[in-house]
Amino acid sequence: MKEIKKVWLIFICFSLLHGFVAALNCTSPTPESLLDALKKEVFTKKLLRPVKRFSDTLNVSLTMRVAGIIGVNEKEQTLTILIWQIMVWPIDGLSWDEKLCGTARVSVPRKELWIPDIYISQFMDEDESPKTFYVYLDSKGHAHDGKPVRVVSACRFNIYTFPFDVQNCTLTFGPYLHYAQDVRLVQINTAAEVLEDSRNVIYTRGEWELVDIQAVTNILELSEKNYSELRYYLILSRRPRLYIVNLIIPSVFLSILDLFSFLLPPQSVDRSAFKMTLILGYTVFLNMMSDLLPVTGNQTPLLNVLILVSFALMVVSLLETVFVMNIQHSSSQYSPVPHWLSVLVLRYIAVAVCLPPQKKSNRITVSLRPPTEEMNTNTISLKDLQSISGGGDTPPEKPPPGPVLDELRKLSRDLMAIRLQIDNHILGSKTSQEWHMIGIVIDRLLFGLYIVVLSVCFITIIALWFYKTETWKSQKP
Ligand SMILES: *[C@@H]1O[C@H](CO)[C@@H](O)[C@H](O)[C@H]1NC(C)=O
Ligand SMILES: *[C@@H]1O[C@H](CO)[C@@H](O)[C@H](O)[C@H]1NC(C)=O
Ligand SMILES: *[C@@H]1O[C@H](CO)[C@@H](O)[C@H](O)[C@H]1NC(C)=O
Ligand SMILES: *[C@@H]1O[C@H](CO)[C@@H](O)[C@H](O)[C@H]1NC(C)=O
Repeated sequence: MKEIKKVWLIFICFSLLHGFVAALNCTSPTPESLLDALKKEVFTKKLLRPVKRFSDTLNVSLTMRVAGIIGVNEKEQTLTILIWQIMVWPIDGLSWDEKLCGTARVSVPRKELWIPDIYISQFMDEDESPKTFYVYLDSKGHAHDGKPVRVVSACRFNIYTFPFDVQNCTLTFGPYLHYAQDVRLVQINTAAEVLEDSRNVIYTRGEWELVDIQAVTNILELSEKNYSELRYYLILSRRPRLYIVNLIIPSVFLSILDLFSFLLPPQSVDRSAFKMTLILGYTVFLNMMSDLLPVTGNQTPLLNVLILVSFALMVVSLLETVFVMNIQHSSSQYSPVPHWLSVLVLRYIAVAVCLPPQKKSNRITVSLRPPTEEMNTNTISLKDLQSISGGGDTPPEKPPPGPVLDELRKLSRDLMAIRLQIDNHILGSKTSQEWHMIGIVIDRLLFGLYIVVLSVCFITIIALWFYKTETWKSQKP
């Protein structure tokens, strides 16, 4: 029992002695007396790191909050954010009795103290942060420093999945000069607490959303010198609505419009004019929206591919219309349809694209004997005349007189000419009808191909967007 008391007493004495050595002496519980004590004991030592021995490490505890995401510049690969940086570090020889001095904390000018030289190594721009002038000192001997920092930080952007992209930006806090043996950074709050606090104070509701924060303390070895650093990974995700509404949906609409323009008959000039107008409209639209698209040197976002594909398909479909129009209008004037082409297109492809083969019955088939060489008006025989005049079965009683015969010959010549004309016409219209049919079948075929290509492109791009976003989400612990 006595032993325990003795040890207790020794302990109390020791701690009192220790306390006396470290404590400031306030003569009265007034600011003046505390100021006098601080002036004597703390402010005079501001030129040196506040540790008892040189071999001691000064542990600077640090945390931060993200107060605003100001902007992202993909071209310069910078992220501008506003953070609140909070540091706490012990000062040797600082501590006082709350009762004797009358307060638990006091704020003093920053320039009267030794301040750790903590910087963010991704700083890209001059520091435009608002300046703060005071630092809190508490009775337990700690200095509390808090200040807003506007960081223009370098960040490697990955815009492949734009506008569904998620960026991982690093903020590395560390002393600029001091080695790890002299100044070491310690995390105050866990990353989850930092995230929670940041969500409470963040005031921007802009394009970017802070989804996650990860924190790592690390020792950086540079040419045999060790530097302590504290890294925060800010995970930012873009709110894609602006881009969906302004870029993706109009693009998809225009593509669908282009698709449905295939329902216009190709031979009417309307369709090509319509498609041309559509392409023009799309160009103007892209011109207006081009500043929404991110620009970086090394990567092409999938969205640009989508736009390019839409545009290319529009141009291709215009070419297709021109091609079909050419088949239907010009080819018929040059030559009849080659047999293989007619078989291939009208018999096989037409079935493949669900067009019923053209019925022959609705054509005018006049079964006249083909005009032959010997059948000219000079050698026209009586029999022929009789067959032409339709009285073949009833033989005439007597041959017609001279003038009548002449008249009939003239009539026959006229009829011959008319018949030749009609034959040519029927032949020509048959050719042009066949070319027309081929045009329709090819148009149908290319329409099908267009639908397939368009769907494949869109589905691929959407799948890639999903896939990339999901892989990011699965990386998240
Ligand atoms: C405070 O005063 C006590 C005596 O009152 C003295 O022993 C101690 O050294 C003083 N502390 C400082 C830091 O001056
Ligand atoms: C700083 O922290 C390290 C471990 O984190 C510890 O060993 C060291 O004693 C601390 N220094 C001081 C001055 O408290
Ligand atoms: C962010 O990047 C760092 C290193 O560059 C990596 O360790 C961390 O896992 C990344 N975070 C996410 C969510 O990808
Ligand atoms: C730096 O740290 C490593 C271990 O992390 C240690 O082996 C090395 O000696 C240190 N260098 C200096 C200069 O302290």
